[in-house]
Amino acid sequence: MAKVNAGAALLSLCLLLACSAGGTKAAYVDVEGTVRTEVEKAIKSNPGIGAALVRLVFHDCWVNGCDGSVLLDKTPYGTNTEKKAINNIGLDGFNLIDTIKYKLGDGVSCADIVVFAARDAARYLSNGKIAYSVPSGRKDGINSSAAAADAVLPQSTFEFQQLVDNFDKKKFTPRELVILSGAHSIGVSHLSSFQDRLNKSTATPIDDNYKQALVADVEAQKKSQNTPDPIEKNNIRDMSSSFQTTAGYDPTGVNTAAKGALDNSYYHANLQNRVLFKSDWVMRTDTDAGNAMAEYMDNATKWNNDFAAAMVKLSKLPAESSTRYEIRKNCRVTNQNYYY
Ligand code: HEM
Ligand SMILES: *[C@@H]1O[C@H](CO)[C@@H](O)[C@H](O)[C@H]1NC(C)=O
Ligand SMILES: *[C@@H]1O[C@H](CO)[C@@H](O)[C@H](O)[C@H]1NC(C)=O
Ligand SMILES: *[C@@H]1O[C@H](CO)[C@@H](O)[C@H](O)[C@H]1NC(C)=O
Repeated sequence: MAKVNAGAALLSLCLLLACSAGGTKAAYVDVEGTVRTEVEKAIKSNPGIGAALVRLVFHDCWVNGCDGSVLLDKTPYGTNTEKKAINNIGLDGFNLIDTIKYKLGDGVSCADIVVFAARDAARYLSNGKIAYSVPSGRKDGINSSAAAADAVLPQSTFEFQQLVDNFDKKKFTPRELVILSGAHSIGVSHLSSFQDRLNKSTATPIDDNYKQALVADVEAQKKSQNTPDPIEKNNIRDMSSSFQTTAGYDPTGVNTAAKGALDNSYYHANLQNRVLFKSDWVMRTDTDAGNAMAEYMDNATKWNNDFAAAMVKLSKLPAESSTRYEIRKNCRVTNQNYYY
């Protein structure tokens, strides 16, 4: 291309990508490239951040649609925001979202960053097997409420019908419940989120050897993490081989070398009663959901494809409230609460 045309080409590229004009950053910003680079860099230095991002988009989009409300510390209505919800225990990824926002400037919404970051984390953690595109153009909401998040997000102690009803409210099918729950192949959970499963009086069926191994490990983790509510890995595939042996894990069909990978190994674990949450296990009580799980256990490609499609649908949940929308300058506060 002749040198004289370069400016015009850059300008039209910029218009095409709707990049920021008059923001604090340069006029041209490669939005999706920047998110991808930052997400991959962050996961390389801290693998846990990938799982956090995949959960973050669910918790943002489920509550009032994909509007970045989960990121807010402060709104004109107060500081009791979604982050303070009980159901948001352990939610993470906020510093990385801030880092990306700082690089992208005022032209890109926080809601879009959450969606792209989760997409890129899913692609990276699946070794490129879960790849999808999602449109940009979301706006940021100005309201965020802990009570709303606790009312709307599903809980790990839910019965099957409660899970189905919860997903139905967002127009997601029981099969999509099964598909999206496969995200529990990655990441961690606090003891308080699966304690009911270790307690004789509240336990839903869980493999006895797995339970014994978990009880012992929880006690060890309380000491090494120095907390009464330690975290454990969601997926038995990610536990040590001595834990797996004690727990009687049957890894047939699972790539146990791929610890931390986002894949269909969740279904292998679930169909052995070796998963942390009651909400995971209860899907076995329904014939159709149980059959779907067996299908995804047997066909990794099918799960990759269907998970990608469900993530696209999740990433498109529209903002619901009629309140004002904006593109935030800082993902943690509304523009009204933002001071330079
Ligand atoms: C179906 C209903 C669901 C329930 C009841 C549920 C519940 C939970 C709970 C209790 C935790 C652990 C939180 C903690 O104690 O720290 C968790 C972790 C996680 N969930 Fe879900 N979840 C559900 C669906 C989903 C969906 C749809 C996704 C994403 C598509 C998802 C992705 C994750 C991930 C990746 C983690 C690990 C997070 C990390 O390591 O930082 N979950 N979930
Ligand atoms: C903010 O959200 C809460 C909880 O959903 C709601 O009660 C309140 O009316 C909302 N405020 C505004 C201004 O939309
Ligand atoms: C087990 O569950 C019962 C009934 O909810 C509760 O009273 C008890 O404190 C629980 N025990 C433990 C060790 O969590
Ligand atoms: C697995 O699923 C893919 C995608 O849906 C399909 O093309 C393929 O035939 C399935 N493989 C088997 C063995 O059923």
